[in-house]
Amino acid sequence: MQRTVLEGVGSYLPERIVTNDELATRIDTSDAWIRERTGIGQRHIAAAHETATFMGAEAARRALAAAGASADSVDAVIVATSTPDQGFPATAVSIQAAIGMTRGFAFDLSAACSGFVYGVSVADAMIRAGQCRSALVIGTEVYSRILNWEDRSTCVLFGDGAGAVLLRAGTGEDDRGVISTHIHSDGRYGDILFIDGATGQDDRPQHLVMNGREVFRHAVSKLAGAVDEALAANDLTQADIDWLVPHQANRRIIDAMGKRLGLAPEQVVVTVDRHANTSAASIPLALDEAVRDGRIRRGHLVLIEALGGGLTWGSALIRF
Ligand code: ACO
Repeated sequence: MQRTVLEGVGSYLPERIVTNDELATRIDTSDAWIRERTGIGQRHIAAAHETATFMGAEAARRALAAAGASADSVDAVIVATSTPDQGFPATAVSIQAAIGMTRGFAFDLSAACSGFVYGVSVADAMIRAGQCRSALVIGTEVYSRILNWEDRSTCVLFGDGAGAVLLRAGTGEDDRGVISTHIHSDGRYGDILFIDGATGQDDRPQHLVMNGREVFRHAVSKLAGAVDEALAANDLTQADIDWLVPHQANRRIIDAMGKRLGLAPEQVVVTVDRHANTSAASIPLALDEAVRDGRIRRGHLVLIEALGGGLTWGSALIRF
């Protein structure tokens, strides 16, 4: 069977790090409260020049370098973001220009924190359908610009960053590549996690609004269903999984998923302590870290999963 092969991973984090203690000088919170509830210790926050396009382009260049590929060999750019630089052109098109691609196609998709899983699913389907032979899938987010910095229940949870993978049509003989993807949404829960205000409709600033308890409840049950579905669809057992690379929203949700899969804590890639929740960027950021430090190697079976605003959720199984 012809598979879509993952050829390279790259990421970018803003230079500025903001610790919990620094936040506690501005709002009524503490390092202990944030760590205990979420596992977060710090986050990277973008400077003015570190836009979704800037960070996404840098992550894409690093993914191309890791794959030993040039921008002109890429057919498509799919960007998952909830914080695009503008309504249009799409951030994907701006990144296409920034990395020197002058052909192919580029578009954004909006699936909040599940955006990267959705992007891998769409790219895999397009590659297998023959619409393109290669695609950069990029998650790039600047949540610091949509946070209400006076709302301690949300502003402590998020950070900025970008991650990218290069996917390419395999030869047909590869056992590596995207094995399956499953994506879901249920718009009935749109009101538990959303960005308030719509561009052009009024002058209100756009802010992220979240009912944390409800999101937590849905995350645990829906992600458990998503990991079971991925295993069952491929006739695999928990023992076949080498690594879980979950969306990095909250340490307690991550630990619950690791347990559900019967994985040792060392088999779960965790970055939420240093990156906080970077939404669609969190999985490729975590993948990049674990590939670069040698944990994830050729032949390993990796499960990625995420849940985000929408609600949207899903999973993908990828053999490296
Ligand atoms: N510092 C100190 N106290 C705080 C803070 C803070 N930063 N934020 C809230 N509190 C207070 C509240 O005001 C409340 O006080 P009260 O009891 O006097 O009213 C108390 O802490 C408890 O608040 P809860 O919201 O009930 O705390 P909870 O234990 O549920 O933890 C949290 C909140 C961390 C947000 C948790 O619900 C959670 O992790 N939910 C999932 C969120 C998530 O994963 N979102 C992202 C997924 S999708 C995406 O990535 C976009």
